[in-house]
Amino acid sequence: MQNKVKGSTILVTGGAGFIGSYVIEELIPLQPKKIIIIDNFLRGTRDNMKSFYNNPVIEFHEGDIRDVELLENCIEGCDYVFHLAALRINACAANPQDGFEVMLKATFDVAQLCVKYKIKKVIYSSSASVYGLAQHFPTPETDNPYNNQTFYGAAKMWGEQLFRSYKFMYGLDYAALRYFNAYGPRMDTDGKYTEVMIRWLDCVRDGRNPLIYGDGSTTMDFVYVRDIAKANIAALQADVTDESFNIGNCVETSLKELLEVLLKVNNSHLQPEHREENSVNPVSRRLADISKAKRLLGFTPTVSLEQGLKELSEWYFEKIKLKVH
Ligand SMILES: NC(=O)c1ccc[n+]([C@@H]2O[C@H](COP(=O)([O-])OP(=O)(O)OC[C@H]3O[C@@H](n4cnc5c(N)ncnc54)[C@H](O)[C@@H]3O)[C@@H](O)[C@H]2O)c1
Repeated sequence: MQNKVKGSTILVTGGAGFIGSYVIEELIPLQPKKIIIIDNFLRGTRDNMKSFYNNPVIEFHEGDIRDVELLENCIEGCDYVFHLAALRINACAANPQDGFEVMLKATFDVAQLCVKYKIKKVIYSSSASVYGLAQHFPTPETDNPYNNQTFYGAAKMWGEQLFRSYKFMYGLDYAALRYFNAYGPRMDTDGKYTEVMIRWLDCVRDGRNPLIYGDGSTTMDFVYVRDIAKANIAALQADVTDESFNIGNCVETSLKELLEVLLKVNNSHLQPEHREENSVNPVSRRLADISKAKRLLGFTPTVSLEQGLKELSEWYFEKIKLKVH
């Protein structure tokens, strides 16, 4: 297959973030001419970019995708765009106006400028949130999005549909990737809505019993961040357009099982403590059918939950150590 990255100029919005930084690490060995990054450091960090920040192919702009002039300057002259910058699900719920401006308006501007500057392909970061509680398990891409109740899921679906309509109206090629539950080193650790894995790792560190709210039967499909980054590259390289793909690990893991594996990889004998569920989770199950991504992108997840949690734990404990000293 032709290496489309070689000699290309590529924009990555949100490139200082968790997934974006891994996408860039996968792009660099493929010899792009230039990688332009826009990130406002809302959640991304310089530390996430330390393996490539000083690489001469990188052109970093600390700025906001709501700044149309900046966006235009960055997109002009590009061959490809990876659009990852977004607010997280809770941030959208807390402030839908910001959600509108970042998830909808700025994504609209990205699409407009991609048409104007004849971008060859856009890889759009969508989400399994488009399904809400899905109809089928494993969930194929053909499940409908009517069960989604979140602004975030609505915005991601709108983004997919926007790119579909721009393909239809203007011939703009794109692929949308619906990530399931991403995890791995560099995931958010300090936010108000810190991921459950990180809270449990804090328990391991402090020797406190980890808490499970409810009976722990809620399931997720945990997909390792480097596998997600590889799916992004595959979506660019493959001769596919106008398609959405589930990107998951294809393993349904309950919170209870997740905790068991996390304790196991840390050689911990702490006992989970159950607490009454204090919020209603409308999405009680997630399991991706990834056969479409396998078939059309050649995507296969390579990192097991056990291996991924080992790497997450090592990274997190190292990070804490550095903070303390
Ligand atoms: N992490 C997951 O489990 C998951 C699941 C499904 C989809 N996604 C999607 O994948 C993409 C990447 O997510 P992530 O987990 O790396 O999150 P992240 O928050 O680490 O990355 C997003 C990046 O965008 C930047 N950003 C936010 N608003 C911006 C703005 N207005 N201008 C410029 N930069 C801005 C942030 O600073 C951050 O670095 C997002 O589109 C997200 O919605 C993530």
